Amino acid sequence: MSAVEPRSGAYAEAFRQSIDEPEKFWLDAARAVDWAQFPTRALDDSAAPMYRWYPDGSLNTCVNALDRHVAAGRGDQTALIYDSAMVPTVRRYTYAELLDQVSRFAGALAERGVTAGDRVIIYMPMIPEAAIAMLACARIGAVHSVVFGGFAAKELAARIEDAQPRAVVTASGGLEPGRVVEYLPMVNRALELVADPPATVIVKDREQVPGSAAERPGWLDWDTVVAQAQPAEPVTVAATDPLYILYTSGTTGKPKGVVRDNGGHAVAMTWSMRNVYDIGAGDIMWTASDVGWVVGHSYIVYGPLLVGATTVMYEGKPVGTPDAGAFWRVIQEHGVRALFTAPTALRAVRKADPESAELEKYDVSTLETLFAAGERLDPDTYKWARHTLEVPVIDHWWQTETGWAICANLTGLEPMPVKAGSPTVAVPGYRVRIVDEHGAEVPPNTEGNIVIGLPLPPGTLTGLWHDDERYVGSYLSAYPGNYATGDSGYIDEGGYVFVLGRSDDVINVAGHRLSTGSMEAVVASHPAVAECAVIGIRDSLKGQRPSGYVVLKAGVDIADDTLRDELVAMVRDQIGAVATFRDVTVVPALPKTRSGKILRKTMRQIADHEQYTVPSTIEDVAVLETLEQVIRSAE
Ligand code: COA
Ligand code: AMP
Repeated sequence: MSAVEPRSGAYAEAFRQSIDEPEKFWLDAARAVDWAQFPTRALDDSAAPMYRWYPDGSLNTCVNALDRHVAAGRGDQTALIYDSAMVPTVRRYTYAELLDQVSRFAGALAERGVTAGDRVIIYMPMIPEAAIAMLACARIGAVHSVVFGGFAAKELAARIEDAQPRAVVTASGGLEPGRVVEYLPMVNRALELVADPPATVIVKDREQVPGSAAERPGWLDWDTVVAQAQPAEPVTVAATDPLYILYTSGTTGKPKGVVRDNGGHAVAMTWSMRNVYDIGAGDIMWTASDVGWVVGHSYIVYGPLLVGATTVMYEGKPVGTPDAGAFWRVIQEHGVRALFTAPTALRAVRKADPESAELEKYDVSTLETLFAAGERLDPDTYKWARHTLEVPVIDHWWQTETGWAICANLTGLEPMPVKAGSPTVAVPGYRVRIVDEHGAEVPPNTEGNIVIGLPLPPGTLTGLWHDDERYVGSYLSAYPGNYATGDSGYIDEGGYVFVLGRSDDVINVAGHRLSTGSMEAVVASHPAVAECAVIGIRDSLKGQRPSGYVVLKAGVDIADDTLRDELVAMVRDQIGAVATFRDVTVVPALPKTRSGKILRKTMRQIADHEQYTVPSTIEDVAVLETLEQVIRSAE
């Protein structure tokens, strides 16, 4: 049973059919995609819980994103607008130009032995070559794995080690406000850390960043290889073949390699563009995220291009590049119809420009809808954005694993009244339920674990890269028959879902998903640290921020400031600047259960000034009381 109440209307009918007649629903949806071989079946559940969508279909994702629009006579339409507030510059690619660039780069990869099924790591800033590299992999059936530029060498190395790529594609660096991030030393260090580094490294040289392929023996220059390459023809792959791996933070330090297929992904992306975002051919969509995150994969690159829209790729920040009018400038300059960003970006704009003086300077009348995801859209920020922009503001909830919205207000299907604080209702295909710790469904308005009944719809993860056991263990075993989202929340009597936050050790800092476990591993490796806990505490701008609590080894004499500086530098060096690890508090002991488990949830409740009950399993209540005193006196 679904927790969504029966309704009438287009949403209710679509939802009902997606659950009661999934074969019909998803085969109908598949007709919006060009197939080499149209599938005769939607779902293959023969190896459940490892489900596969469109088992006998075949296609090429790049053909769907580029070739078919050119073939339909829209080669001169703009496919991609690169707008850099950092350089600054604007560059436009038509569909025909993008197809040419992608085919050439695909040829360059193929000439270096990259074939269907091979992995390619893409470690790039927000430049068009990142999207070109992704699509080039799709063209030849290679599997890309994009690594966010804010991650440091060790994180990059962990991903290279797991994916075993045949090539690494990178750039000389990224541009952050006030500093240049040189990638090549990091790539070099990462390759030194892995056992079996790939032979091919291709570098897009950026004139704003020092370093180039020429300085590294054997590394290749992007422009040179593209100029010499023969354009590659698309390779037809099975719908079930992987399109990409995207590593995301789990509860342990080891990232999870989320695998996305070709067929289910193309269908889900296409369906979501029409029904969730109401964007089609010729429309202009701007997703202000980064290609290193799932939001960037789905709605900077694949979604808009699959439906023949124009995508804006923005290199810059919402504030400070140069001011809080940056978003409004981009909307005006490119005639953006739909903007998708993270609530933290809206909070940053509001903080920098509380009276919206910057907005007055621009004509943003093309904007029809603002979409938000990546973290909870708090009611206060929702109301500010709704009032300021005077357009519908749509919160929608999803994860790297699902690849597209689990809950949304389906703008293109049937818009619904907004309830501030809720991403609205379950999207067709998702059986969203709230269960207690035993897996029993709870009544409306009762908080619990948010799970999704299996099978998940097309476009969601098909597993973790080469690790079915971890996939089942992490997501499917806690509540048999369901996928555990890791989020907690409730559903009201009207079927509106409210997502309250993670119930595990994953945190969301400025819309960036991070693992406190991996930060703990770094902090624990400091010679002065006996034990530690890193928890996510509330932050008025970034939603959450990591906060470290450290117990020193007996006899160690180190000033708190020195320890803090060293730990901050270590996390920055080993995980990356994006971790924004800055808070360190030295405590005499960590509160634990009698079985030795650190009471992280209670610690977070204390730090966030929430009411808490002392767990009955606590080993020593005095430790908790002391901790509270230390936290309060440090505030
Ligand atoms: N490459 C290298 N470093 C990066 C980086 C990248 N791609 N992205 C961020 N960093 C660095 C920043 O330079 C900063 O370094 P610093 O400590 O030297 O200043 C650090 O990581 C933290 O960055 P960030 O979290 O972005 O904080 P900020 O203060 O620079 O900006 C916001 C705050 C809110 C403006 C910004 O986080 C933002 O725009 N968030 C939206 C995020 C988003 O779109 N998420 C995608 C999900 S939809
Ligand atoms: P990521 O995998 O980086 O997309 O992060 C996914 C996590 O971000 C989810 O599990 C949620 O905890 C959180 N999240 C994303 N979107 C929302 C939203 N609209 N409301 C609440 N939480 C969200």
